[in-house]
Amino acid sequence: MKIIIDSRENIAKKAALRYVELLSKKPDAILGYATGSTPLDLYGELVKLNKEGKISFKDVTTFNLDEYVGLDGSHDQSYRYFMNTNLFSKVDIDVSKTNVPSGLDTSAETAAAYDKAIEAAGGIDIQLLGIGNNGHIGFNEPGTPFGSSTHMVELTESTREANKRFFASIDDVPTHAVTMGIKTVMNAKSIIIIALGKAKAEIVKKTIYGDVTPDVPASVLQLHPDVEFYIDEEAAELIK
Ligand code: PGA
Repeated sequence: MKIIIDSRENIAKKAALRYVELLSKKPDAILGYATGSTPLDLYGELVKLNKEGKISFKDVTTFNLDEYVGLDGSHDQSYRYFMNTNLFSKVDIDVSKTNVPSGLDTSAETAAAYDKAIEAAGGIDIQLLGIGNNGHIGFNEPGTPFGSSTHMVELTESTREANKRFFASIDDVPTHAVTMGIKTVMNAKSIIIIALGKAKAEIVKKTIYGDVTPDVPASVLQLHPDVEFYIDEEAAELIK
């Protein structure tokens, strides 16, 4: 695991360069995207680079990590809506080649089809990840088996609590989500994970230096051959 500690601004810039590099070699790359506060600066940077003509998403296919159960893509807190608003509508991407798990069809068949579609596309070249305060990646909460593929999960109270800031009240935060599994994530050829802010300091330390255990889902990344972990100064507080 390569660890890069830098300012938020530089993290967005450096991570964006990885996409420039990949897409210049492989314009039809398969990208795994994430939602939440963490990737916003990076998406801003990708939009800027696209406007400047330094990167094109014209031929890429994307797969997002997760989606809330019960929210249609037009719901302003759905992850489909987040991606359309923060990235897809602002770059030259073909939206028909962007995939987000369905929050409405939660059948096991549809979940399995998501993994099959990733495989059929040739696998994810770069999977982007944030990290939950509890170590979740995607919505793989503590205890999720490392062998899991895309599946429906019940969100922990700590995750619902962390995400309530986007909703009118905690009661409006969905109780379930569909997420790529840990195995789905680990199958990506390269992984970029970003952690920002003081609240992530403890989990960053556990992820990098703690035991590899399903209790800390992100710790599995210690076993992946190509991970870049971008950490801002605050989130790196306990590992410097
Ligand atoms: P955040 O969420 O980017 O909003 O902190 C990260 C996550 O839960 O994976």
